[in-house]
This record gives sequence, C-alpha cells and structure tokens, in this order.
Amino acid sequence: MKKRLGNFAVIGDPVEHSLSPKIHSLFAKQHGNQIEYEKIRVTKGLFVAFVEDFFSNRGVGLNITLPLKAEAFEIADTLDEDSKSCQAVNTLKPVNGKLSGFNTDGVGFLTDLEAWHGIAVKDKRILLLGSGGAAKGIVRPLLSREPKTLVIANRTHASARALSDQLNSENFIGIEGLGLDDTQLMKKRFDIIINATSAGHKNSEMPIDEDFLEDAICYDLSYGPAASFFRWAESSGAKRSIDGLGMLIEQAAKSYEIWTGFSPNTESVRASIRNDLGI
Ligand code: ATR
Repeated sequence: MKKRLGNFAVIGDPVEHSLSPKIHSLFAKQHGNQIEYEKIRVTKGLFVAFVEDFFSNRGVGLNITLPLKAEAFEIADTLDEDSKSCQAVNTLKPVNGKLSGFNTDGVGFLTDLEAWHGIAVKDKRILLLGSGGAAKGIVRPLLSREPKTLVIANRTHASARALSDQLNSENFIGIEGLGLDDTQLMKKRFDIIINATSAGHKNSEMPIDEDFLEDAICYDLSYGPAASFFRWAESSGAKRSIDGLGMLIEQAAKSYEIWTGFSPNTESVRASIRNDLGI
C-alpha cells in the first residue's frame, strides 16, 4: 500500500485507466485551485485501512470505483438518498470527524441524458440491459422521471427478476425483469435502450438483436474502448447512440461540488477530454 497519497484520489481495482485525475484537475483549474488527485489501486481487503489512513493524513475527498462501492457504503457514517437507494457509494468526504457517503452516478446520468442530450424519459418505453451495480446505480433516478414502461433484461434472468421485484416492492409499478433470450422480450420495442452490461468490455456479443435499434435512442454507460455497444448501435441503425463519457464527467462534477462547494462548468472539460481521447 502506498503512503501519504495526496488530498484527493480515486480508488478501485483496476483503476489505471481512470480519467478522474485529468477531469478533476481541469475542474480545479477552472476553480482557480490546484489539487493533487491520484488514482490508486486498492483491493477489497485493504479498503478500510486505506480509507482511515487517507483521511487521517489530510485527505479531502475520495472517489470510489469498482469493486469497492459496496464497501464504501458500509464504511460511511452518513449517507445521501441516492447512495442509500442503490447501497453503493462513489464519493466520500470527511465532515466533523465522520465520513459522509454519496452516490453521484444517478445525477451524472440524468444530467448528461437530459441537459446535454435533450432526452426526456417521461412516458418513454425503456429497456435497461443488465442488472449489476451499474444498472442499480441509475435505475431509480431513471424511474423518478416516470417512463411509460421499464423492462430490465439480463443474461441471468433471475437477477433481472430480483431487481424488478425489488423495485415493484418500492412502489414503482409495472417493471418487468426478463432474460436476454426471453421470447417476451423479442416481441417488444423500446424508445430508449440503456446498456449497463459489461459485455463490451470483453469483446463479447452484443446483448440484443439489431432489430431493437430501429427508432431507438441507445445510451451505453461505458466509454472509450469498452463502449462497443455504443459503436455497434451507432453503425447498426439506432436513431441516436450516446456513450457514457458525458455521464462520467457529470458525476465527477457533482463529486467536486460535494467536496469543494464549487460547481464546475463541464462544457470545456467535456470537449477537452473527448479531444484527448480522440472520440
Ligand atoms: P457492473 O457494476 O459494471 O454492472 P456487475 O455487477 O458485475 O458489474 O454486472 C455486470 C453486468 O453485465 C451483469 O448484468 C452481467 O450479467 P449477468 O448477471 O448475467 O452476469 C452483464 N454481462 C456481463 N457480461 C455479459 C455478456 N457477455 N453478455 C451479456 N451481459 C453480460
């Protein structure tokens, strides 16, 4: 484990490809500040010791990425509503000797979708692909916008069903959980399709058939090389296809605001990061 790690960091495993240090240094520049923001590989077993050490050595803020968001949820003394609802924390901040936990993924997703891409969820037929951590992080923010229908489709039917049962028990109505190969899914059509599977990370097959893309807006929570769903949808007939880079920047902006009180203007940061990545 590294020692004395600077004031801000993103921790996870793996973490080497994280864009967060670059994004936060651009926010800090806009804010007229300099921050030290590192990316540090931390395994699950070292998580608690790392966090204690970090914040007792003048650490100001941590971003938490996979696979540590549930551990961060467990360790936080206070939680915001979004982290409570998905039981995952991506932002930690010390407040009066206690640790506050937040989840900014849902806000980041909605800000990108609505404010930057002008897409309204209300009364739309939504297909959410995947029912793992990424799907859970955005599904309640999505439902807060009152779509007409929501189908959660997952390779493993049982976990899509478990998530839809859970949501239906929370007073969201009429949510279906299906397997990706379910014949009921084949008959349906959707206005917005969100990819929250990690299929694209592994060069595997796309989770749905091309026929679903016609007249659909596709949003891939992945970005960069992993965003194969985004690229496939774009070149295979989707009405629009959007990658997850905007969400990444918007969730980071919210974390920065939580830590510093300063709300960054993300426009130039979005352009700069896309320019750097050539996407
Ligand atoms: P994350 O936090 O990124 O969502 P996760 O919790 O491991 O990671 O979930 C990964 C999601 O991608 C799951 O919904 C997984 O489906 P299973 O529940 O069946 O494992 C889905 N997934 C991973 N690889 C996939 C593939 N090749 N095709 C379709 N879905 C896939």
